[in-house]
Amino acid sequence: MHSFRTVSDIRIEPGGTARLDAHVKGLPRNKRIAIITDQGVRALGLMDAGLAALRDAGYELMVFDDVVADPPEDIVMRGVETVKQFGASLVIGFGGGSPMDTAKVIAFLADHDIALHDIYGVDVAQGSRLPLLLVPTTSGTGSEVTNVAIITTGKGSKNAVVSDPLYADRVLLDADLTLGLPGHITAATGIDAMVHAIEAYTSVHRKNPISDALGLSALRKLTRAIGRAVNTPDDVDARNDMLIGAMLAGQAFSNAPVGAVHGLAYPLGGFFHVPHGLSNSLVMVEVMKFNAQEDRARRWYGEIAADLGVGETPTALIDEILRLQDETRVQRRLRDVDIAEDAIPMMADDAVLKDRVLRNNPREMTRDDIVKIYKSIA
Ligand SMILES: NC(=O)c1ccc[n+]([C@@H]2O[C@H](COP(=O)([O-])OP(=O)(O)OC[C@H]3O[C@@H](n4cnc5c(N)ncnc54)[C@H](O)[C@@H]3O)[C@@H](O)[C@H]2O)c1
Ligand SMILES: [Fe+2]
Repeated sequence: MHSFRTVSDIRIEPGGTARLDAHVKGLPRNKRIAIITDQGVRALGLMDAGLAALRDAGYELMVFDDVVADPPEDIVMRGVETVKQFGASLVIGFGGGSPMDTAKVIAFLADHDIALHDIYGVDVAQGSRLPLLLVPTTSGTGSEVTNVAIITTGKGSKNAVVSDPLYADRVLLDADLTLGLPGHITAATGIDAMVHAIEAYTSVHRKNPISDALGLSALRKLTRAIGRAVNTPDDVDARNDMLIGAMLAGQAFSNAPVGAVHGLAYPLGGFFHVPHGLSNSLVMVEVMKFNAQEDRARRWYGEIAADLGVGETPTALIDEILRLQDETRVQRRLRDVDIAEDAIPMMADDAVLKDRVLRNNPREMTRDDIVKIYKSIA
């Protein structure tokens, strides 16, 4: 039996933020809207036209812009309190994965009297939430269409809320928002999306035909657009393809969850604040080489390579990834992001606990395997 879920209302409109009043229609229960974002996104003025459109339509707005990359628990809880006090009847998550994940958890917790640590895990968060609209400004996480929120816990490690109430009511994909995304963020977040598509396709427990189709389609768009998006940043078509590709990959992995690339990437973000996409990019090739020793993974990587028209083997797919990493000038080694070799045991201790994702990987991975992979990119 296969099953597949996703957000039911997805709108694609470059420039659509200026009509945010039209895009919230039917969602809020009263005139009060809370917007969850970060200071970077706010300072860029990306929301300004949207805020003006909402104000003109008579909405009262509260902007919570305290979200930081890899959102920690205390900021999420502060957001919940602020939104509760304001009495918002719609939460809009506006930004990259960090504001969107925070918005998802806030929309849920603001409708309950429970704590964040009560909802960590798979299918633990159950019941209602405030209406939720998500507007991504990066093309990577796919968070706008996943039922996942990743929160940094006090220990510098990450934990996840994974449950269907986290699927948003509506998504707006406005490629104009991503035009100013710097090259290194475009590259890293785009590679994150590629990892989502590849890991969904090779996910052993919940691999399904719909995720497979979405993952392949996502990779075709992403691999063809990422170089243009990085090297000719105002190419709206490339930006739109990146945004749609990231969303398709998000739909894929929300139903066929990610594996060891993410498992090994999490400690880099949790302990060293390496951006999520870059963490994935750093570990992906060596994890894929490790996986390719196993029959199923070898076959699946070959199928992806064939679909992309680059060959029929895992090596062909890996070579294509290396080419794209070159083209987008993304960093390659742990030392490039100031992680010393002596941190590897601590990172391996953390990564090996990520059973939520490691269990989806096509080849079993021990702590020794993880240490070897980290050492090979030290
Ligand atoms: N929920 C999910 O399914 C899921 C999946 C993957 C990753 N994540 C999480 O998402 C987070 C990472 O998200 P992200 O990679 O989108 O980055 P992010 O949201 O952390 O943002 C990174 C930086 O980019 C800036 N930025 C955002 N949009 C911009 C724009 N248009 N122009 C210029 N700068 C812009 C932000 O201000 C911030 O400084 C991590 O916490 C990760 O764990 C969640
Ligand atoms: Fe990711």
